[in-house]
Amino acid sequence: MHVLVTGAGGMLGRELKAAFAEGWQVTALSRAELDVARWGDVRERVAEARPDVVVNSAAFTDVDGCESRVDHAMQINAIGAKNVAAAAEAIGAACVQVSTDFVFRGDAHEPYCENDPVGPESVYARSKYWGEVLCREVSSKLTIVRTQWLYGHGGKNFVETILRLASERDELSIVGDQFGCPTFCRDLAQGIRRLVEEATPGTYHLSGRGSCSWFEFAQRILELAGVTGVTVKPTTAAAFGRPAPRPAYSVLRNYHLELTLGDFVREWPEMLAEYLRERSAAN
Ligand SMILES: NC(=O)c1ccc[n+]([C@@H]2O[C@H](COP(=O)([O-])OP(=O)(O)OC[C@H]3O[C@@H](n4cnc5c(N)ncnc54)[C@H](OP(=O)(O)O)[C@@H]3O)[C@@H](O)[C@H]2O)c1
Repeated sequence: MHVLVTGAGGMLGRELKAAFAEGWQVTALSRAELDVARWGDVRERVAEARPDVVVNSAAFTDVDGCESRVDHAMQINAIGAKNVAAAAEAIGAACVQVSTDFVFRGDAHEPYCENDPVGPESVYARSKYWGEVLCREVSSKLTIVRTQWLYGHGGKNFVETILRLASERDELSIVGDQFGCPTFCRDLAQGIRRLVEEATPGTYHLSGRGSCSWFEFAQRILELAGVTGVTVKPTTAAAFGRPAPRPAYSVLRNYHLELTLGDFVREWPEMLAEYLRERSAAN
């Protein structure tokens, strides 16, 4: 079996490459090798490679940047996603589109299931949701995987930001009134492989088990990394004041996944501990 991964230079893209390395032929294309916004190139490259499955991990992920670059966000996250799904469909390949918890409004009080009503608010959220819609329109073998709060090796992410800030300051103010679930890209990539190999197409949530606020996440990062002498204080999203609105509560329940493949996803602190162990071994 042959998988083609787009956005392969990103945090998830790298882990996808590794997750499929054994037993699969992998064509991993970075942005420089394939721009998903260019329909002609996408159609040509996918037709040439003739994979059985295409996984689209390419996206414009700068959530605040999307607010001022609306067309750019739509071009990559919506049209780009459709291009990949349509190119896969044209050769009879299955498609996996990676989506986000941001499709939900965030005013729930319990974890979101796959069939809960969406309510995307930011430009990023709307572009990703439109990506879901367009992919469904063009692909007959589509798996949408919604995930959240990703971190992984070699990427810009919250874990790295906290560790950097902790080396520069002795007090950090972190948002305490937004809740989600941190997810290691490794677990997500391996879960995507299982979905491709063992499940039927559909919409699935795949994020770490459990939930926390950004404040609690930061505390756990420092604790597991053995950082001492840094005080973490909770602040509010309103006080932090970022350009893009973010859901206050967007914990995902991996409901469809559990009913299909069982309850194999790890608790988020276990994922984080592994990431930090690997990170410190590499440094
Ligand atoms: N990060 C999160 O917390 C999070 C949460 C939920 C869902 N997701 C979704 O998970 C997926 C993977 O995200 P990630 O966290 O791995 O983000 P990432 O590290 O930013 O990776 C995205 C990759 O896509 C590439 N890209 C951007 N525009 C492209 C284009 N036009 N054509 C081809 N590639 C392009 C980027 O390249 P450049 O770096 O060169 O721009 C980058 O390598 C995305 O679909 C994202 O929306 C992420």
